[in-house]
Amino acid sequence: MEARGRTALYVCSVLFFLTDASPELIHVPSSVHHGIEGKSVLLSVETRFPLEDVEIQGTWSHIRPSGIRTTLVSFTEETSITDMMYRNRLLFKEPNMSLLIRKLNQDDEGDYHLNLNIAFHNKTGQVIKEERTVHVTVDVPVSTPVIEKSPSYAVVEDKANVTWTCSVERGTRVTFQWLQDNVALGPSYGHHFSHDNSTLFISPVRKEDKGTYHCVASNAVSQVRYSRAMDLNVYYGPYNLEVNSSQGLRTGEVFTINPGELAFFECQADSNPPNSYVWISKSRNATQVITEGPRLEVRSYRLAQAEEYLCRAFNNVTQKQNEAQFTLVVASLGTGKEKHTQDGSSVSPLAAIICSLFVIGCILLFFLSRNCHPKRVLMSIYNRPLSEQKRPHRSGHEDATEDFGIYEFVSIPGKMESAQASCRSLARLESVQDMHTTIYDVIRHVPETPSHSLLN
Ligand SMILES: *[C@@H]1O[C@H](CO)[C@@H](O)[C@H](O)[C@H]1NC(C)=O
Ligand SMILES: *[C@@H]1O[C@H](CO)[C@@H](O)[C@H](O)[C@H]1NC(C)=O
Ligand SMILES: *[C@@H]1O[C@H](CO)[C@@H](O)[C@H](O)[C@H]1NC(C)=O
Ligand SMILES: *[C@@H]1O[C@H](CO)[C@@H](O)[C@H](O)[C@H]1NC(C)=O
Ligand SMILES: *[C@@H]1O[C@H](CO)[C@@H](O)[C@H](O)[C@H]1NC(C)=O
Ligand SMILES: *[C@@H]1O[C@H](CO)[C@@H](O)[C@H](O)[C@H]1NC(C)=O
Ligand SMILES: *[C@@H]1O[C@H](CO)[C@@H](O)[C@H](O)[C@H]1NC(C)=O
Repeated sequence: MEARGRTALYVCSVLFFLTDASPELIHVPSSVHHGIEGKSVLLSVETRFPLEDVEIQGTWSHIRPSGIRTTLVSFTEETSITDMMYRNRLLFKEPNMSLLIRKLNQDDEGDYHLNLNIAFHNKTGQVIKEERTVHVTVDVPVSTPVIEKSPSYAVVEDKANVTWTCSVERGTRVTFQWLQDNVALGPSYGHHFSHDNSTLFISPVRKEDKGTYHCVASNAVSQVRYSRAMDLNVYYGPYNLEVNSSQGLRTGEVFTINPGELAFFECQADSNPPNSYVWISKSRNATQVITEGPRLEVRSYRLAQAEEYLCRAFNNVTQKQNEAQFTLVVASLGTGKEKHTQDGSSVSPLAAIICSLFVIGCILLFFLSRNCHPKRVLMSIYNRPLSEQKRPHRSGHEDATEDFGIYEFVSIPGKMESAQASCRSLARLESVQDMHTTIYDVIRHVPETPSHSLLN
């Protein structure tokens, strides 16, 4: 391709220089030929003058890379003499100046030089000289490359070297390339190539070197040929040990789970071959192996308030291990709403009033209606000073100090959000078995000034 480009450039420049003076009389379409051993190559020449109006005299010579020059053919427009040594392999038919070389062999490589004198009949005494050179290479196509690995077995990261070799049975001027998982490899840390790239030396082997390898061979006369795939297995790890859980709340090294909840933890680490895992409890003075395998199941009622757990991953081939430790805390996680309520200052006064009214209404209904006996009351913060001012008159509930005390939070899936649970729906809750409740202590500070007036 490049050669062709260069030829085009050369031809263009020749044309450019000759356009004014004299047009190009002969043209060589290709100045480089990649010949295949045993096959033919045609060094073609196009003439750009009427052959009947001229006398020509010329030679084709072969200049070997060593510099030895042999005249292959001498010719005029009517006759030609071919070197005896080449008479079976050269085809030349004057006045056509193209030269066909058959049954190419390695010795045919080199430059082929065309030397031409042209004398036009109408310009007596004037001889125009033309010279062209064509370069010919002779190659053997490459056979399918064979990939080999040493050692042939799986290796341990950082402890071994691997040598890859690629060879071809046939092929000249072969270029080799290496692919790992179909990505070409170049010189980099740990990758060393032999001079002709036929050998790849990986030292030391790392986790990233694990993969599928191919070697690729090609030359000027062959398409790219791929070797078969070969895997390199590297034992490594464990790395990046992590503990996750679908339940609970993770804050740094602390997992918080609700009381009574069943929590699953999963330990995972990147490792080859897969790790073996053990779970260790450090709650008591002595550490204790609780379970083997990546999964840990913890029933929170079995826990003291906080316990330390440790997951240990061990790779029995690399003889390396990795650990992750966390503290498990049992506490009411609550919902977002609860947290919101606890943070009294951020509750809007209006919402507090509505909630208070709702609660009071329910309490009233509880006492007044025989059909309505809610045992649990949805409670929200009783924002005293504000409610005191804006709340309408309610009989039987004049003194808000009575509202302080221990309340139970009832979380009704779906209902809690809307805060529209009626007293009747609360009554129905008695039959709901699996609802979540949380004892909630609702003592708040009684603001100083109002409390003073209240106590009076
Ligand atoms: C010269 O010979 C070659 C090969 O024999 C042929 O391809 C080409 O067309 C010939 N050129 C002319 C002008 O006859
Ligand atoms: C000589 O002949 C060639 C081709 O026949 C023609 O192109 C050229 O113009 C001629 N030159 C003269 C001086 O007649
Ligand atoms: C791996 O190659 C390095 C040189 O690159 C050499 O020092 C080391 O001894 C080799 N290790 C093994 C296990 O052959
Ligand atoms: C070897 O491969 C590298 C790229 O991986 C390339 O740059 C270099 O030219 C190659 N050398 C030979 C002799 O093919
Ligand atoms: C941990 O994460 C993995 C992948 O992200 C997931 O497949 C697995 O179910 C999780 N385990 C738990 C207990 O959440
Ligand atoms: C290493 O552990 C794997 C599973 O984790 C097990 O299949 C294998 O037998 C163990 N090998 C040795 C040598 O203990
Ligand atoms: C743990 O046990 C050791 C003896 O096995 C004892 O000396 C130490 O005081 C114990 N620590 C606690 C916190 O119980």
